[in-house]
Amino acid sequence: MNTFLQYNPTKLYFGEGQVEQISAEIAESSKVLIVYGGGSIKRNGVYDDVMNQLKSVNAEVFELSGVEPNPRLTTVRKGVDICKQEGVDFLLAVGGGSVIDCTKAIAAGAKYDGDAWDLITQKAPIEDALPLGTVLTLAATGSEMNAVSVITNWETNDKLGWGSPHVYPTFSILDPENTFSVPENQTVYGIVDSMSHALEHYFHRTENTPMIDGFIESLLRTAIQTGPKLVEDLQSYEHRETMMYISTTAFNGTLQNGTDGGDWATHRIEHAISAIYDIPHGGGLAILFPNWLEHVLEDDPSRVKQLAVNVLGVDPEGKSDVEVAREGAQALRNFWNSIGAPSRLADYDIDDRDFDSMVEKTFIKPGVGTYKELNHDDVRDILKRSL
Ligand code: NZQ
Ligand code: ZN
Repeated sequence: MNTFLQYNPTKLYFGEGQVEQISAEIAESSKVLIVYGGGSIKRNGVYDDVMNQLKSVNAEVFELSGVEPNPRLTTVRKGVDICKQEGVDFLLAVGGGSVIDCTKAIAAGAKYDGDAWDLITQKAPIEDALPLGTVLTLAATGSEMNAVSVITNWETNDKLGWGSPHVYPTFSILDPENTFSVPENQTVYGIVDSMSHALEHYFHRTENTPMIDGFIESLLRTAIQTGPKLVEDLQSYEHRETMMYISTTAFNGTLQNGTDGGDWATHRIEHAISAIYDIPHGGGLAILFPNWLEHVLEDDPSRVKQLAVNVLGVDPEGKSDVEVAREGAQALRNFWNSIGAPSRLADYDIDDRDFDSMVEKTFIKPGVGTYKELNHDDVRDILKRSL
C-alpha cells in the first residue's frame, strides 16, 4: 500500500426524515442561496420540506433555479452575481450531481474577484469558498461527499472537472425517499456512474491492496444484485437506500485509500464527448467502459480477468487469461444493457465525424490514464470500438 491521508469533512445525515437536520446545521438568520434544477424538487415535495426548515431558522432565502444537467458556466455566473449582490453567507444545493457541482463553483466564484472560469481552468488558485450543504435527490456522482465538480463552458465547448478542499459540503442530507421520483433512465445512469467510479478506482497499480480491492468488488457485486431489482421497483426504499450508499461511497475518497488512485481515463473521454454532444454522463460511461476494458486487456489482461471472475461471474475453467478478461468486458456491457443503458455511440446518433475534436479535448489536461497511460491513438481506438 501507499501512504495515505484519510480526510473527509462532510457530515453525512443518512436515512428517512434527515431533512430536519438542516435547521441544526444552518445558523439563525443566515442569508441562504438555495440552488436547484429544472423543477423536480417542486413536484416531489423536497422544495417544501427544505423551505420549512429554512423558515424555522429565520433564514433570508434567495433562489437560483434552472441548473442544467451538465451544469453550465453561465448558470454559475448567475449564482456568483446573486451571492456578491446579496451578501449570501450559505449555499444549499438541492438536487443531483449537476446542482451540487454548480453550487460548488458558485461557492468558489463568490470569493473570487474575477470570472469563475479562471478557477475551473486553474488559471487562478482557489483560496476560499462560501460554505455549502446539500440535499441529494439522485444517487449517482458522489458529489455530495467529495470536493469535485464538473462544469461545461459552451462558449469554448469544454467540460472540465476541477476540485478544491474548500468546496467539500459541510453537510449532506441523504434520504432515499427523496430519490423515489427519479425516472428509470436517470436511475440507470446513476447505477452506471457509481459502478464506473468504483471500477476506475479498481484499476490501480499499487501492490498489496487486498482489503480495498475486496471492498470495491463487494460494492460492485452489490450494485449488480440491487440494480435490476431497483429498476423493476423504483419506489423500493430498500433498493434506493442501497444504491444511495453505494454511490456516495464510490466517490468519497474511501476507495483510494492506500492506492495510486486508479485510472480515470474513461471519465476523461466521456467528458470530452459530453462537451460536444451534451449526452447524459452515465450513458456515455456505459458505452465507453467495456471498450476501455477491451482496449487495456490486450496489453495486460490480469486485472480485467480478476474483475471478470470476482465480480462478473465468469468461469475461468479451461480458458486463457485474455479469454476470461474478454468475457468479463462483454458481461459488464450485457449487464448495463440489460437494465436499459446504451452500449454504442450510435445510440445517441454520434458517428466518427468529431473524433478529432474528442481526442483533442480528452487531452485538454496532460496525462490520460495511469493503469494504462493512453496516447491519442489509444483514445481514438476506444472511440472506434464504441461506434
Ligand atoms: O433538474 P431537475 O428538475 O432536478 O431534474 C434532474 C435532471 O433532469 C433529474 N432529477 C434529479 N433528482 C430527481 C430528478 N428527477 C426526479 N426526481 C428526482 N428526485 O435528473 C436529471 C439529471 O440530474 P443530474 O444532476 O444532471 O444527474 P447526475 O447526478 O447524474 O449528475 C451528472 C453531472 O455530474 C457530473 C457529470 O459529469 C454531470 O455533469 N459528475 C460529477 C462528479 C462529481 N462532482 O464528483 C463526478 C461524476 O463522475 C460526474 O462527472
Ligand atoms: Zn462519473
